[in-house]
Amino acid sequence: MIPTLETMFQSTFSWSLITVFLSTLLAALAISFNYWLVPGGFAWRKHQNRYKHHAKLPGPMGWPVLGTLPEMGSLAHTKLASMATSLKAKRLMALSLGTNRVVISSHPETAREILCGSGFSDRPVKESARTLMFERAIGFAPYGTYWRHLRKVATMHMFSPRRISDLESLRQRTAADMVRKTWKEMEMKGVVEVRGILHEASLRTMLESVFGINNSCIESEREKVLGDMIKEGYELIATFNWEDYFPFRFLDFHGVKRRCHGLTTKVKSVVGEIVEERKTCEKLVGQTDFLSALLSLPEEERIGESDTVAILWEMLFRGTDTVAILLEWIMAMMVVHQDVQMKARQEIDTCIGRNSHVRDSDIPNLPYLQAVVKEVLRLHPPGPLLSWARLATHDVHIDKVLVPAGTTAMVNMWAISHDSSIWKDPWAFRPERFIDEQVSIMGSDMRLAPFGAGRRVCPGKTLGLATVHLWLAEFLHRFILVPAQPVDLSECLKLSLEMKKPLQFKVIPRYS
Ligand code: HEM
Repeated sequence: MIPTLETMFQSTFSWSLITVFLSTLLAALAISFNYWLVPGGFAWRKHQNRYKHHAKLPGPMGWPVLGTLPEMGSLAHTKLASMATSLKAKRLMALSLGTNRVVISSHPETAREILCGSGFSDRPVKESARTLMFERAIGFAPYGTYWRHLRKVATMHMFSPRRISDLESLRQRTAADMVRKTWKEMEMKGVVEVRGILHEASLRTMLESVFGINNSCIESEREKVLGDMIKEGYELIATFNWEDYFPFRFLDFHGVKRRCHGLTTKVKSVVGEIVEERKTCEKLVGQTDFLSALLSLPEEERIGESDTVAILWEMLFRGTDTVAILLEWIMAMMVVHQDVQMKARQEIDTCIGRNSHVRDSDIPNLPYLQAVVKEVLRLHPPGPLLSWARLATHDVHIDKVLVPAGTTAMVNMWAISHDSSIWKDPWAFRPERFIDEQVSIMGSDMRLAPFGAGRRVCPGKTLGLATVHLWLAEFLHRFILVPAQPVDLSECLKLSLEMKKPLQFKVIPRYS
């Protein structure tokens, strides 16, 4: 059929339309590619001209719109470490996580500048953390008078050396309980899956430290409810939420916001009820628990009701999993490295009699045991990216490079503690390295700072370590840990760096 003039015109017209459409699309793509193709990705684009007279930050360009988000899975710490090495950006690397500008340090010097300088004293608040009230607690409260007050109160009444020593009998009681449960499980199943036992012990310790020893208000049903709430909170904070990376409030695909609201209502009701009950107690002064201390503060220092709930909830939330996760890693390394386990036990045997229980005062006489804990914190830090990032409150110079206000900063502690230019044989498990050289892990030596450093350093570090040391020593004193099957040391980064598969082993009791 011969085309008419009309059909020819129509087809030429539609071709022109298609051509115009394609050209526009190509132009838009070219513009967006140009916008995205900068070191660190497109979130750094609008700051490019500020670098005309400054050194530029190296970093991956990442994907359009998403930036480096696709790389931030369950092994983000290892991926970011190899990116920093390949881009020669260990000192400081720029990247984009959605629309968020981020810098990452994988070097002790720049890590110190970030953690200990005054520029990064805030934290970026995830939507879930905000909804779960953590912005009103120590961890996410913006730096300022309120945060300083909370930290001072917690330092005095929760983390002081006196409070930690008052809680020794609680730690011993929970250790004895753990030993009993472990043996029971061994007898019943022929193998021990220690994760549940450690979580239960950790939760009980935190509940009693926060709400009071042998306090009748924490009966087992409430303990279970609180344990489930902490578990759900962990899950929610670790769940990927588009809203944290893009400025759209309707991107709650996983229902995180809805679930956070539900959980917050529950927290307010359960913890609020405990607070109300305690208020009716006649004797608050003289009690050693954190809640009684908060309620006995002088009028001018008193913390409001809902903020009291937020800070109590935070203590339970932060203190429970970190300790349990670290101990599971330590026990895994003890099962795998029988020689190290034997050496640690010999030290304990020399220091502690057959029938005695380990005491806090024994720990300074157990340097090898302490070295074991340090070596596990080096190889498997519970917070490889220091868990909670920092936020630049104003323009800062790190390593003489300008980092604009509002930039998120992370320290890849895992990369630093696995760097062969810093540590000899970094992949080897060798606690002896900490006997040969004294390395403080409390935040003064950036080669290993698993609790962070500077003004926002972990306030629970001494309490956490006291618990880990005592429980580990008591465990090795009572049992020989042997493999049930080859131990899978794969990691999974959620809120903390966990063992991907729960650890299982067998125990041989040492004393009947
Ligand atoms: C093995 C145990 C623990 C590890 C590895 C650990 C690790 C950390 C890290 C890396 C930070 C961020 C520090 C920074 O930004 O410089 C932190 C902050 C914090 N930790 Fe811990 N932690 C542990 C135990 C605890 C315990 C037992 C508690 C409380 C009961 C606790 C409460 C907190 C709080 C409230 C913050 C926020 C501090 C602030 O922003 O001012 N932690 N922790």
